[in-house]
Amino acid sequence: MKTVLITGGGGYIGCRLVEYLQERGYKIKVLDRFFFGKERLDSVIKDSQVELMEEDLRLFDPELLKDVDIIVDLAALSNDPTGELDPVKTWSINYLGRFRVAILSKLMGVKRYILPSSCSVYGFQEKIVSETSPVNPLTTYAKANYKAEMDIKKLADENFCVVILRFATVYGYSPRMRFDLAINGMVKGFYEKGKIPILRDGTQYRPFVHVWDVCQAVHLAIEAQRDKVNGEVFNVGSNDQNVQVFELAKRVAQTMGVEFDYEWYGLPDHRSYRVDFTKIKEVLGFEPKYTIEDGVREIYQAIKSGKLDPKDKSTITVEWYKGLIEKGVMV
Ligand SMILES: NC(=O)c1ccc[n+]([C@@H]2O[C@H](COP(=O)([O-])OP(=O)(O)OC[C@H]3O[C@@H](n4cnc5c(N)ncnc54)[C@H](O)[C@@H]3O)[C@@H](O)[C@H]2O)c1
Repeated sequence: MKTVLITGGGGYIGCRLVEYLQERGYKIKVLDRFFFGKERLDSVIKDSQVELMEEDLRLFDPELLKDVDIIVDLAALSNDPTGELDPVKTWSINYLGRFRVAILSKLMGVKRYILPSSCSVYGFQEKIVSETSPVNPLTTYAKANYKAEMDIKKLADENFCVVILRFATVYGYSPRMRFDLAINGMVKGFYEKGKIPILRDGTQYRPFVHVWDVCQAVHLAIEAQRDKVNGEVFNVGSNDQNVQVFELAKRVAQTMGVEFDYEWYGLPDHRSYRVDFTKIKEVLGFEPKYTIEDGVREIYQAIKSGKLDPKDKSTITVEWYKGLIEKGVMV
């Protein structure tokens, strides 16, 4: 049985990944500060063997990596606004912290390290971009991701396999919910106000991927033959889920069966990118199973049934971290 250590396993993607990999027979360890609460994992953990370690990726004892085969290094301050709250902290966690995890993994004999990066490293692009296109990271979050990619990739060798996954913007339900992600936020906005919030000016393109499809991609990266993936970058998403934000809002309304009404928010978003996802399909056989409409229905249903509380303050990541810092929590 392979042991997978998931840093950030108490987060939005992490909670789903723990469940996904657990069901596929892996032994799971989670290393997380649990900024959003350990109890997020209560409904997910079915196997008493899942080990939770409340640790900071910048400080933990390397001995914790003993007997670990694979690391999925999800822990980070996870979006652009949070990344700007305190750029030094963002660099210390998202770049230095993950670089530390990668180096220690190599030293401790971990065989495979998976770095979840983001398509936001593409920033603003006129043309459709692939893994070989020049990047254009515009924010602290995106710059730290790209620097982590560059430096961690150099650690790859025949005994230490490094795989970099650039996720599209994720959607779908998770026990640690994030309503600060475009599709999830649109469903919540409509539910609360009857209007879909659209980040100005709506012409920007974004690629999307369902959270279960992200888990599928990570699983493929875990199991792939080493020479197919070592030192490689893969965009994670699908060519038919590159959507302009205004068009996206219309699709969300249509799926919810409501008249399309909206309100603008924020300053004009300078990030716009359409991404090519051919490589992951061809090399790893990745085929997304979920559509944007599936995600919208699932979230709408979860809110209506009371499974998700749209007023839960922890679902807006930047506000939650601001609150923690005000309370004196050392982030
Ligand atoms: N959700 C998306 O749309 C998306 C898209 C692209 C990339 N990503 C990347 O995927 C990863 C996970 O994102 P998410 O949406 O699950 O975010 P999240 O904020 O829900 O989860 C991040 C987790 O990391 C933990 N964490 C933060 N700092 C830590 C530290 N110093 N030590 C230990 N744990 C720490 C938090 O407690 C949290 O559980 C991040 O690296 C993010 O940049 C996410």
